[in-house]
Amino acid sequence: MTTSVAGDIVAEIHDLKKKIDAVVLAHYYQEGEIQELADITGDSLKLAREATKVRAKTIVFCGVLFMAETAKMLNPAKTVLLPDLKAGCSLVDSCPPDKLSRYQEMLRENGRKFQTVTYINSSAKVKALSDWVVTSGNALEIVKRVPAEYEILFAPDKHLGRYLQEVTGRKMILWDGSCMVHEIFSIQDLLKMKKLHPKARTIAHPECPANILEHSDYVGGTEAMIKHVGSYTEPTEFLVATEANMMWQLQNQHPQHRYLPVPGITCACNKCPHMALNTLEKVRDCMRDGKPEITWQPEFDKAKEVLARSLLNPLPAAATVAQMAGD
Ligand code: 13P
Ligand code: SF4
Repeated sequence: MTTSVAGDIVAEIHDLKKKIDAVVLAHYYQEGEIQELADITGDSLKLAREATKVRAKTIVFCGVLFMAETAKMLNPAKTVLLPDLKAGCSLVDSCPPDKLSRYQEMLRENGRKFQTVTYINSSAKVKALSDWVVTSGNALEIVKRVPAEYEILFAPDKHLGRYLQEVTGRKMILWDGSCMVHEIFSIQDLLKMKKLHPKARTIAHPECPANILEHSDYVGGTEAMIKHVGSYTEPTEFLVATEANMMWQLQNQHPQHRYLPVPGITCACNKCPHMALNTLEKVRDCMRDGKPEITWQPEFDKAKEVLARSLLNPLPAAATVAQMAGD
């Protein structure tokens, strides 16, 4: 596509925003051209919270299905459009609700007392089966809320679960799911890059496997990564182990630094094929046609309650800090 064609589509999107009274929300893993035109960019937690504040009639959600469903559940009066309904997530696929439900039943039959803590990267049916929903941004806070007498069944991301076990000291039963993007970072390539760039700091998303996190200087979700690099006053090199479009947002907010993507085993840079289904053309088309739209599903009733108590009801700041310090 030539720049002028892209520019024309962006202009059409801005016109459509006024025409249909829409706000565009975009995740940091969307292509830079989509993040650039969005009214709000963010990680899963920020976008979920921002969705509750939207006053316009329509939310155009540039992200994947579970994120758009979350926006609909937290602000049901709005029309929520997703440019491509097929934008799924390998973590969602790894945890079918009937399988989770049978596993929970088996634990109960064996007399296990547990609460289910579920990553937001899950279907609404799975959220409805859960006690808590977490994102990479609030997982520590929520895990601390689970009373000590309960075991924790953590689904579906085994890498995030393992990391949370390590930082909180809470033993967890881990579901065997993973993100197809973060799962395949190459430890060999990371070690080579660290040799080539000895002063670089390595930052990694907790969806990465343990071998990547062990060699990282900082582990955090996408919003936390941006904050972290912003704390460096001197220009610094960062090796970044998360989805490749994140480089655009890091560069956008903190251009004084240099960002080098850690390669995946099979590719030079790791892009999420689900996120990539959303294109400028599809953003325009969904606004023009009023579809695909996220419609209310029966399981949203229960899932919404779990989402609201997990994401919209943070502990008072002082309590959070005290609890995270283990007081
Ligand atoms: P966060 O932006 O919440 O860190 O999530 C990362 C992710 O993989 C979203 O699909
Ligand atoms: Fe799912 Fe991974 Fe893509 Fe995020 S990056 S949507 S976790 S497959």
